[in-house]
Parts: sequence; C-alpha cells; structure tokens
Amino acid sequence: MSVPAEQWSFYGKSELNDEQFNRWRALLEDRTGMQLSFERKSFLETSLNIRMREIGCADYDIYYDKLMSGLSGEVEWATLVDRLTVQETSFFRHPGSYELVVDYCRKLYEDEGRKDIELWSVGCATGEEAYSLAMVLDELVSEQSRKCYYGITATDISLPALAKARDGVYAARRLERLDKHYVDQYFETAEPGRSRVIKRLKERVCFARINVLDLRAAPMQNVDVVFCQNLLIYFQSWRKKDIVTQLADRLVPGGIMVLGVGEVIDWKRPDLERIQFKDTLAYRKRNQL
Ligand SMILES: C[S@@+](CC[C@H](N)C(=O)[O-])C[C@H]1O[C@@H](n2cnc3c(N)ncnc32)[C@H](O)[C@@H]1O
Repeated sequence: MSVPAEQWSFYGKSELNDEQFNRWRALLEDRTGMQLSFERKSFLETSLNIRMREIGCADYDIYYDKLMSGLSGEVEWATLVDRLTVQETSFFRHPGSYELVVDYCRKLYEDEGRKDIELWSVGCATGEEAYSLAMVLDELVSEQSRKCYYGITATDISLPALAKARDGVYAARRLERLDKHYVDQYFETAEPGRSRVIKRLKERVCFARINVLDLRAAPMQNVDVVFCQNLLIYFQSWRKKDIVTQLADRLVPGGIMVLGVGEVIDWKRPDLERIQFKDTLAYRKRNQL
C-alpha cells in the first residue's frame, strides 16, 4: 500500500510485532553482522518509519518485500543500512591507539628504512578516523630526512557515510576537541562554521565500500596497519573472531592490527603476538613462525 505524503499525518509510528521484529533483526544481522537487542526495537521502528514515510510505504511487510526485490531492493537497502547502523565517531577517538600507530610507523621509516606505509581504516564512518591517521602520518613523513609516503584505504558499508567522508567537510563543533595545530595545519574554512580537510591530506585517503561480512572480495593485501575500532562491538563473538582472522590475513609480516579496547576477547592465532602499549588492544603479525 503506497500512501501519499499528505496523508502521512494520519499514520503514527506503528509497532513491530514480535515476528516482524525478529524478521528485521535477522535481516540486519545477516547483511551487516550487527545484532539488534530488544531494547533497540524503538530505534528500529523509528528508523524504518522515517524511511517508509520518505518513500510513501505504510506497511512493514510491504517494505520488507520491497527490499527483497531485485535491483531496486538493493538500491533501497543502500539507503536504509545507513539509517540502521551506528555511525558515531570523532577525530582521535582513542588517543592511545594513534600513539601506537605513530610509534610503529616511526620505527618502520626510521629503523627499517621503509619508504611506503599502507594503512586500512575498517568501518571508517564519516572519515574522522581515516583523516586522524592521515594527520599523524603526514607529520611523521614531514619529519623524515628522505622522501617517504603513506596511503590509507578507508572502508565502510554505508554509502552516505562514505560520501560525507570523501567530502571531508565538518562542522566546527566536531573539531573542537582536536589539537589546534592539527586544525591550523590540515583544515581550511569551507563556509562559516564548517571546515574542510585540505586537498593534500584528502589525496592520501581512498574511501571505498566494503562490507566486513564480505572480506574475501576485498582487494587489500600486505597492509602495514589495520585499524578497526567500534565496529565489532555490535557483532556476535564468533563473527568478531572470524572477521579479525580475515583482517589479520591481510597484514604484511611484521604488520599490526589495532582494535578497540575490549572488542575481541579470547582470540589468538599463532602467527600474531599481542602488543603491550598503553591502553590499546593490538596485535603484531610475526615475521615468521
Ligand atoms: C560506530 S562507527 C565507528 C567509526 C570509527 N571506526 C570509530 O571508531 O570512530 C561503526 C561503523 O561501522 C560501519 N559498519 C557497520 N556494519 C558494517 C559492515 N558489515 N561492514 C562495514 N562497515 C560496517 C557503520 O556504517 C559505521 O560507520
């Protein structure tokens, strides 16, 4: 049933019955890995209702069937997934993790004579994490006496989030807690109250859509730093382990994987060792067993 927009005021937010809730919850977990607890039912209802209003659909089941139908369903899913995933993020969200990256990359450039470093921000949301990595790497590169490079691949499931990340324009309040020297060096005014990441930094970051449930299709290889934070918290334990195992496969020998503190417990593999660095959760791939 399609409802003209002007009639929407007659329709309040309707409740999902248990069967419907379970169906939507299963769809979300199946396609994104995210688990939705019963406490978040109201969030699901609100998000679905907002989207259904936008497209003039008043029935959860009809909307569900629409999502299942071919190419148009896939296009609709690309919009909906953005509304259902948590995209909270900030610059330098977990400072200790960035200190570890700097410490490790400095050693690569200065002790091992490396010229190039490859980093991967997994679940980058609107780009703050990737640009934070770019800022610390840019500073590090500028301190080197010889020409050094770095490249960051930043991936997420949400196309709207990636579009914002590529744009690299942020409201002034998002920069409030960022050190002033980063703001001065790496941002320019886009319009009053909004700042844009400078071109030189943007050029070091490549944003792409990758679902972590589909990592086998991801082209990344021999990555020096895998940075994955605040994504796996929403996943079941077996899935987390499966994903970090696949992320670790993409590390170059000697490379590091920096996760969110407490996000994966009771997981190890023989070719990885835990790194003890401040309050971080990180692993290093051994050079050889
Ligand atoms: C809470 S944000 C974390 C952002 C950033 N890593 C940080 O720590 O600030 C989680 C991000 O993971 C993304 N995400 C959720 N499920 C995903 C999946 N299956 N594959 C890739 N990204 C996913 C969401 O779109 C969201 O942008």
